Amino acid sequence: MKQFISAYDVGDIDALVQQALHYKAHPMADASLGTGKRIGLLFLNPSLRTRLSTQLAARNLGMEPIVFNMGSEGWQIELEDGAVMNGSSIEHIKDAAPVLGSYFDILCVRTFPSLTDREADYSEPLLSKLIRYAGVPVVSLESATLHPLQSLADVVTISEAFREARRPKVVLTWAPHIKPIPQCVANSFAQWMGVWGGADFVITHPEGYDLAPQFAGSAPIIHNQQEALEGADFVYVKNWSSYKDYGKLLSTDPSWMLTQQSLQPSNNARVMHCLPVRRNVELSDEVLDGPHSIVTQQAANRLCSAQAVLAEILKGGTS
Ligand code: CP
Repeated sequence: MKQFISAYDVGDIDALVQQALHYKAHPMADASLGTGKRIGLLFLNPSLRTRLSTQLAARNLGMEPIVFNMGSEGWQIELEDGAVMNGSSIEHIKDAAPVLGSYFDILCVRTFPSLTDREADYSEPLLSKLIRYAGVPVVSLESATLHPLQSLADVVTISEAFREARRPKVVLTWAPHIKPIPQCVANSFAQWMGVWGGADFVITHPEGYDLAPQFAGSAPIIHNQQEALEGADFVYVKNWSSYKDYGKLLSTDPSWMLTQQSLQPSNNARVMHCLPVRRNVELSDEVLDGPHSIVTQQAANRLCSAQAVLAEILKGGTS
């Protein structure tokens, strides 16, 4: 694997899932694979799970992780080719990226969308230029449009939790939030469901919340949440702001919050959320604290998933 920014960077998702589950059972199985190698984690936005699980994953492989809170401790990076840098940017990405590439064997970065300029956000300017100029493998720790480490952990969690000899029905449901949230987790989950192909996947959201077509793919869209949840084995709860009316909060309808009552039509569904979650806005306490919730398992699987990705990059493998 040369980079990890989307589902299309993975040759065989099922093999990568099995590798992650192997590392979950045997975290130190490849403890010297990354000996002498360094991994840089650049954060332009805060993180709890991604930041900690990726560092732990690197350590399990013998790598030295170094975190740089670029958003709060770094200076503004210029991304425009040919820019006359007489404004607020201090350093051009063409200069910074090769330096970072000379310090690290793998570079990881978390970026965030503006939610005001769709075209700019969806062109992933920082991520794409880091890939172009760093000269080392780049791993997305969440970008403007996708969150592949989260999505791999989501597929690992579904694969681990579902032991029946049939395909599970997986529903991604929009949930209310108090402020506009990026589309990346929902985009990414939809993309991975489509590329993985191991589930019958349905998306439900209010009118106006269609995901970008390149990520939603051919998944059925149902605007009635109760209808969508009929027979569901897994319900993935997530808010996202509008893609069409870009970055806008079009609805805060509390009836979309997932409750024990709204789970009734499901097949005793297990409930997922990437966290952090707004309790009693997106998901009710009774669901989060009840037997249906697998959110902690899902977050725990971030570690073995990141370890599988880093190991594939270190090995230069294709799964
Ligand atoms: N789900 C997720 O990416 O969590 P963090 O923002 O805490 O990393």
